[in-house]
Order: sequence, then C-alpha cells, then structure tokens
Amino acid sequence: MRKSLRIVLLLAVLAVIFSVTAFYSSESLTANADPNKRERICATDDDPVKIDRRERDFSDRIAARAYNRVVYGGVIPVYFHVVYSGTSGNISDQMINDQMNVLNAAYANTGWSFQLVSTNRTNNSTWYNDCYCASETPMKNALHQGSADDLNVYTCNPSGGILGYATFPSDYASNPLRDGVVLLHSSLPGGSATPYNLGDTATHEVGHWMGLYHTFQGGCSRNGDLVSDTPAERSPAYGCPGGRDSCAGNKYPGLDPITNFMDYTDDFCMDRFSTEQDGRMDAQFGVYRVDK
Ligand code: ARG
Ligand code: ZN
Ligand code: CA
Repeated sequence: MRKSLRIVLLLAVLAVIFSVTAFYSSESLTANADPNKRERICATDDDPVKIDRRERDFSDRIAARAYNRVVYGGVIPVYFHVVYSGTSGNISDQMINDQMNVLNAAYANTGWSFQLVSTNRTNNSTWYNDCYCASETPMKNALHQGSADDLNVYTCNPSGGILGYATFPSDYASNPLRDGVVLLHSSLPGGSATPYNLGDTATHEVGHWMGLYHTFQGGCSRNGDLVSDTPAERSPAYGCPGGRDSCAGNKYPGLDPITNFMDYTDDFCMDRFSTEQDGRMDAQFGVYRVDK
C-alpha cells in the first residue's frame, strides 16, 4: 500500500478510536494477581484523573499530528537489569533468553520484536526487596539505559504478591529514568511463580509500556480500555474461566476476553493481542517513543 494512503487509513482508524473516549473509572495497573492478597498501591498510576489526562494528551497529539513518524512495528532494544540479593533472584542467562523468546512469540503478529542488548547484575538486598515502592527511584536512577524507544526490564522481588508493573509511553517525557517494566524474577519462564511462570507477566507489562490498559479497565463501560474489539469485562478474570461473560446482555456482545494478554488470567490461558490493541501500540509508539 502507498505510504500516504496508509497514513490516511491510520488516522481514520484513530479518529474512530478517540471519538469514543470518555471518562472512566480505573484499576490499579500494579494489581495483585492473587485476589486473596491485598493490593499495594504505591504509585498513582491508577488515578482516573491521571489516566484521563494521558488520553487527552494522546488524542491532542494525534489531532495535531505531533509525532515524528508513523510506525507499524520495529525492533526494540532491550536492556535487562537483574537485581538480586545473595542467592535470591540471580536468574540465569537461560531464563532471560527464554523470556526474550516468549516476548517475541507473543508480539509476533504485531510487527514489534525485542532484541536483548545487554544484561547487568546488581546484588542489592534493599532494591531487590522494595523495587515496587521505596527503591524504585534509586534503582532506576542507577541502572536505566537508553531513551524512549528502548525497553528497560528489571527483575527483582516487588513483594506483596505483585507480579510486575510498568510505566506508560505518555509518562516518558516527565520522567525518562522511570521508564520501563519491573518483573517478579520468578515469573520468567521456568521460574517458581506458578501459574504465572511462562513469561507472560513480561508480555503483559510490556503491553502497558506500549500503551495498553487492562481489558477490564472501566468495567462494563464499553470502551474502558480504549480499544473497541476487546469485549467489555466487569473485573479481572483469574485462572482460565472459559465462557465467562461478566458484562451480559445485548449491550455487551462477546464473551470476556480471557485469552487476551491484558487480562489477569493464568499464563497458559493468555495468547493474544487484538487487532486494535496492535493499532493502539503502533500509534502510542509513534507519538511518544519513536526517534525520541
Ligand atoms: N497483575 C500484574 C499487572 O497488573 C500482572 C498480571 C500478569 N498476568 C499474568 N498471567 N502473568 O500488571
Ligand atoms: Zn497490568
Ligand atoms: Ca503493528
């Protein structure tokens, strides 16, 4: 397809997506994967005002064509930071390579791929055990590399049952060093965090880093996650509840998107991004990350 035509088509798709944008409630982006454990909220990423501000900024920039380049995919350099404590959390290069393969398989249909640039290892028990709260800033200030189009991955022990958390593309400008995803070390392939040990916590957190929200964002409001081809979902799905339909009735076509990487189901259960999620990732990357 001619490049100019592709740009026109992309803008048309985006216009449809953003015309449906409205206020919506929020979910913690760092929610506990175990419903029985208490969620710990440290950052304020779940603040609906903040999410709304992000979306306004995004649609404003799209309208103003305030992006360097329209992209549909590309190779994302990855800087891997293993933060461990003595004999805990010092994961093997094999686990990191397996994680890269899982990521690349998960994003294969989106046009995005991930290439490991370097791995560094830091023995620091304070950072290791509090990498979700107090130690996030010191850890990232010391270790972060690259710029907006580079992915920084930290493994450590976020504690409190948290599998991982991520920053969003639109947050980059205000705090470049904070950009990246943080993962529970045992969520990597072969780790001990069953049933979250096939590497899809990284897939999910990178989804946030690419600009995606949870499929259950905003509950049954139809477009809570700002993509319209993921059926509305009242709350996170856990396990792999086939046939779940938490927003029932004619108003809400489709069963819950429990196989989507942006839900909370078990790793074996999730295996896809939707077409519009792919489009949103491309658009977010084009506005906030490419060439920055
Ligand atoms: N609860 C985490 C978050 O909201 C990650 C959930 C990942 N789910 C999984 N099956 N690995 O960011
Ligand atoms: Zn999430
Ligand atoms: Ca794409």
